[in-house]
Amino acid sequence: ATEPLIRAESLIRTIPDYPEPGILFRDITPMLADAAALRAVIDALIEPFAGQFDVVGGIEARGFLLAGAVATVADVGLIPIRKAGKLPLPAASVAYDLEYGSAAIEVHDDITPGMRVLLVDDVLATGGTIAAAKKLVAQLGGEVVGTAVLMELTALPGRNVAGEVHALFEA
Ligand code: PRP
Ligand code: MG
Repeated sequence: ATEPLIRAESLIRTIPDYPEPGILFRDITPMLADAAALRAVIDALIEPFAGQFDVVGGIEARGFLLAGAVATVADVGLIPIRKAGKLPLPAASVAYDLEYGSAAIEVHDDITPGMRVLLVDDVLATGGTIAAAKKLVAQLGGEVVGTAVLMELTALPGRNVAGEVHALFEA
């Protein structure tokens, strides 16, 4: 990895027992606050997919922190993939399982048939969120050309659920 990416990784802070005992929370806020680190990760998220996508699908909420910058640097538009109930005119909805209970994500009809979508989120854990986002795009006829995340938690079988993911860092 390049020096700015190594620096970016060093700025991801690990916080034990947050939000619950036994959970190791990966806090990306120090990395986001650093201009060179932020630019390096945005460029690296785009790199394998440069020129191959028409729009970025940013996943609420922490994915939004990256997706807008990815879209702007790649010179494409941004489509918010939101938690259920936040969008006035959802055109597609997909439910997915959480560790406890379930959730759903929704999107507007700005995803159109044949549109090439790059999905962006912060972390791949169980893969449930990314798998749901892929189904959501497919419901509207869009094509997910790639999925880019900052960090993959390799102790979990996220790729078995979500498929191939471009992850900058592992934990
Ligand atoms: C976190 C994280 C990813 C997702 C990864 O989001 O930001 O989106 O979990 O987990 P998975 O691979 O097991 O689906 P979360 O829904 O906790 O909330 P937030 O992004 O709105 O903070
Ligand atoms: Mg999230």
